Amino acid sequence: MTQLPGLLDTEALRKDFPILDRQVHDGKKLVYLDNAATSQKPRQVLDALNEYYERYNANVHRGVHVLAEEATALYEGARDKVAEFINAPSRDEVIFTKNASESLNLVANMLGWADEPYRVDSDTEIVITEMEHHSNIVPWQLLAQRTGAKLKWFGLTDDGRLDLSNIDEVITEKTKIVSFVLVSNILGTQNPVEAIVRRAQQVGALVCIDASQAAPHMPLDVQALQADFVAFTGHKMCGPTGIGVLWGRQELLEDLPPFLGGGEMIETVSMHSSTYAPAPHKFEAGTPPVAQAVGLGAAIDYLNSIGMDKILAHEHALTEYAVKRLLEVPDLRIIGPTTAEERGAAISFTLGDIHPHDVGQVLDEQGIAVRVGHHCARPVCLRYGIPATTRASFYLYSTPAEIDALVDGLEHVRNFFG
Ligand code: ALA
Repeated sequence: MTQLPGLLDTEALRKDFPILDRQVHDGKKLVYLDNAATSQKPRQVLDALNEYYERYNANVHRGVHVLAEEATALYEGARDKVAEFINAPSRDEVIFTKNASESLNLVANMLGWADEPYRVDSDTEIVITEMEHHSNIVPWQLLAQRTGAKLKWFGLTDDGRLDLSNIDEVITEKTKIVSFVLVSNILGTQNPVEAIVRRAQQVGALVCIDASQAAPHMPLDVQALQADFVAFTGHKMCGPTGIGVLWGRQELLEDLPPFLGGGEMIETVSMHSSTYAPAPHKFEAGTPPVAQAVGLGAAIDYLNSIGMDKILAHEHALTEYAVKRLLEVPDLRIIGPTTAEERGAAISFTLGDIHPHDVGQVLDEQGIAVRVGHHCARPVCLRYGIPATTRASFYLYSTPAEIDALVDGLEHVRNFFG
């Protein structure tokens, strides 16, 4: 069995994930390499969800009875865990949403309805990058269409990194917001936050970071990032679906207007007008995803019990091994950085002229789960002149043996298609 320095004790860890024992397609061992799409959930998270519904379920912030108070304490306790996990200066800076897409849409809508100095209008510019997930493109396109603001973006280099050579022309005095991904879901690239934040700060622009593919895999410190907003989702980091996070700087959250109106986000309501609760509640209209937040809290406990530094080291070792092994496969082209440095654990590739959907299907028949397609980042495929990629992505329970299985599986694909 291949041993690499820095690996976690996956034999022990995998016992926490019941689904990893599954067999598919008549007894084939499941090799789950689709972690960038969603991670599997440990027993500890499944138990927390069950326990919540079996013992504490009630609506939060609304009741005086025991269950309502306990459910509220659990929900708000999850907010404390998130705040600590990302080193937020205040728990009130943590807004629960449905997913990272909702978090990013929330930022775009806050700015669209904001007063000066934050307001995005036809005299202003919005900056994104060509490697964004659609969830960090479309909300800004919508905002630009509605306000007349100009949408600009950083292009990509041939090796899958951001081309920042014209940073001073892209981010200008007119820029109101720069929104970019920390780790790309398709290329795996980890972006140079500091250079972008420095330029944004020079011109007084706000910075929003999509950390969906970073928060599950590395220590995340919102203060060190020096951004104004950071978005991520729970289901990629061992938590349940239906829970996302938007972290925002307190003074901004105080100044910016709410997006969704409804119960619990108000201070007073009359038939003529309303006033709003302080953040984060101002941005959490309606019954929130209580059980999901509790599940995310349990996921954070689980990740902390392993250690984010150790998870990062594990994935770095695996990625280095995977890049090396994949490049041994004839006709395989990695779309994105071909070293393990400054990249995450998602690796996209093409295999000769075999369509990625065919690659994915033949791998699936062998029990190997990967994602194929444009990965909700279609501009990246257009940039590199390809219709789609096959993507393998790893997590804390992934093993070198699974990478070997992928490489063997790809040999089988090549033989199958002659
Ligand atoms: N954003 C997820 C992915 O990259 C769904 O697969």
